[in-house]
Amino acid sequence: MGKIHAAITAVGGYVPEYILTNQELESIVDTSDEWITSRTGIKERRILKGEGLGTSYMATQAINNLLQKKNIDPASIDLLICATTTPDMQFPATANLIAANCGMTNAFSYDISAACSGFLYALNTGAQFIESGRNKRVIVVGADKMSSIVDYQDRTTCIIFGDGAGAVLLEPSEEEVGVLDAILKSDGNGWVHLHQKAGGSVKPASIETVMAKEHYIYQEGQTVFKFAVKNMADVSAQIMERNGLSGDDVAWLVPHQANLRIISATADRMNLPEEKVMLNIQRYGNTTSGTIPLCLWEWESQLKKGDNLILAAFGGGFTWGATYVKWAYNS
Ligand code: COA
Repeated sequence: MGKIHAAITAVGGYVPEYILTNQELESIVDTSDEWITSRTGIKERRILKGEGLGTSYMATQAINNLLQKKNIDPASIDLLICATTTPDMQFPATANLIAANCGMTNAFSYDISAACSGFLYALNTGAQFIESGRNKRVIVVGADKMSSIVDYQDRTTCIIFGDGAGAVLLEPSEEEVGVLDAILKSDGNGWVHLHQKAGGSVKPASIETVMAKEHYIYQEGQTVFKFAVKNMADVSAQIMERNGLSGDDVAWLVPHQANLRIISATADRMNLPEEKVMLNIQRYGNTTSGTIPLCLWEWESQLKKGDNLILAAFGGGFTWGATYVKWAYNS
């Protein structure tokens, strides 16, 4: 028997209906459509509205979309991993709630926290369970309700983030397809530049932390930008080199959608023309764990069996990485 690979065999996605445009943001903070577009590439983002709706709601929709498309019984899923930075609650894990919502009665489930690299971390973790032979059906979902931790009076962060969720199904294959290689990195010294100050065990929520707006995203944009641009490009070039891939061999770059300029720098480094770059940042902004699977969801019909994909991300932590996936099916 040959080596078992973890093939992506289905994708699903969900974005909320409400569209927050640059024009609407102009009426909330001192900014302009021109500034946001030229600095980030973002035109609009989706926002989840509705009392009592959180990350698990969007993840549930994305997974139900996947299951229905392929007519898959949720009880046949062995494991659900949810990548998120905005869990429904501190505990239990959001994945537990999603599994219950979706009727995955036989699955164990847990969350992975790696900020904007969360989906890549979770994808590679899920792939290990398939490759080892332990599990046959693993769902990995990336979901974030970033609007729940964004300060809509802070023009440097509120323009960037949006809400959304995307999911993939992993199944074993003896063909040379699926998650073939990954380079994943983290450097916790970067925490100072991008974090949420309060609400954790170091600084539990109090009246003071709420008044000081310490439950929102704190980001030093320029510093994060510099680290992101270098590390995302470096790691993408490294994984291509390690697998003997040139720009011609790569069908698609599937980048975390943080900033158009970071994505362009990565594509340039990989010698890829823009037609080979999945880009939906203009419509969704940065959905953190949702960006990469949402791209796969939107581009699914254009993907062909055997296509070489490089998935790349950078995020808080700092965390970053790249994953080499050979696409396993034609839609
Ligand atoms: N509208 C208008 N002006 C704005 C603005 C906005 N929304 N946000 C910031 N500015 C102003 C700043 O106040 C500053 O003004 P000053 O020079 O008078 O002080 C000026 O624009 C430049 O600010 P700066 O922070 O240097 O802008 P930037 O070019 O670095 O762009 C980000 C800001 C946040 C878009 C950019 O740094 C970025 O994308 N960083 C990475 C973010 C990221 O990827 N985060 C997620 C991790 S994956």
